[in-house]
Amino acid sequence: MKFFIDTADIAEIRELAATGLVDGVTTNPSLVAKTGRDFLEVVAEICAVVPGPVSAEVTATDHEGMLAEGRRLAAIAGNVAVKVPLTPAGLRTCKALTDEGTMVNVTLCFSAAQAILAAKAGATFVSPFVGRLDDIGIDGMLLIDEICTIYDQYPALETEVLVASVRNPGHVVAAAKMGAHVATLPPAVLRQMYHHPLTDKGLATFLADWAKTGQSILGGK
Ligand code: E4P
Repeated sequence: MKFFIDTADIAEIRELAATGLVDGVTTNPSLVAKTGRDFLEVVAEICAVVPGPVSAEVTATDHEGMLAEGRRLAAIAGNVAVKVPLTPAGLRTCKALTDEGTMVNVTLCFSAAQAILAAKAGATFVSPFVGRLDDIGIDGMLLIDEICTIYDQYPALETEVLVASVRNPGHVVAAAKMGAHVATLPPAVLRQMYHHPLTDKGLATFLADWAKTGQSILGGK
C-alpha cells in the first residue's frame, strides 16, 4: 500500500518525507487556504520535495475552465496529479487530461457508481472519502470494500483506489486488508501509526537492562 500525506504544509511534508515512508501528497483548496500561501508556489515546492504524485485541485467548475487550470497545474512539474471533482465536467476533464498524459485524481467520490465512472474516464486515482461518510452515519470502509471488489473484476483497469478523508490508523489497516492501492494520511494519523504502549514499555525495559551491562555497542563507556 502506498502512503500519501494529506496536507499542503511544506514543513510537515519535509519532516514526514524524511521518514522514507511517503509516496506522494494530496492537497485540496481547504488545505491550501490554511497555509495562507500562493497555491502554485506551494505545489512547486511540494513537487520538489516529494518525487511521487502530488495532487493539486482545480477550482473551476466548467470543463473548459478545469482543463485550462489542469494544464497550468500540470505544467508545474511532471509529478503533478490534477485533482478534479466527481462531476460530469470533472470526468470530461479527467478524460481529456489523461489523454494528454497527465495524472488525474478524481476526488469527492462517495459511491461505487461514481467510482465506476471515474475508472471509465481513465482516472489515475479515485478518491473515496471515508471519514466524511462515517460522519453522516455511513460506514465509509464499506465503500472502499465495494470499489476494490468491483475494480478487481477488471485486472486491466489502471485506476488506483486512493482512500481519502482518513481519520485514524484503523481506517488504514482496514483499507490495507481490502487491498486499496493508496491511503492519504493526515500527518497526525501517520504519526499515530507508529505508537503502541507495549513498544514504549518494552523499549524502556530493554534500555534499563542494557544500562546495567555498562557496555556500549560503538565502544567506550
Ligand atoms: C483527499 O484528497 C482530501 O484532501 C482529504 O482526504 C479530505 O479529508 P477531510 O474529510 O478530512 O477533509
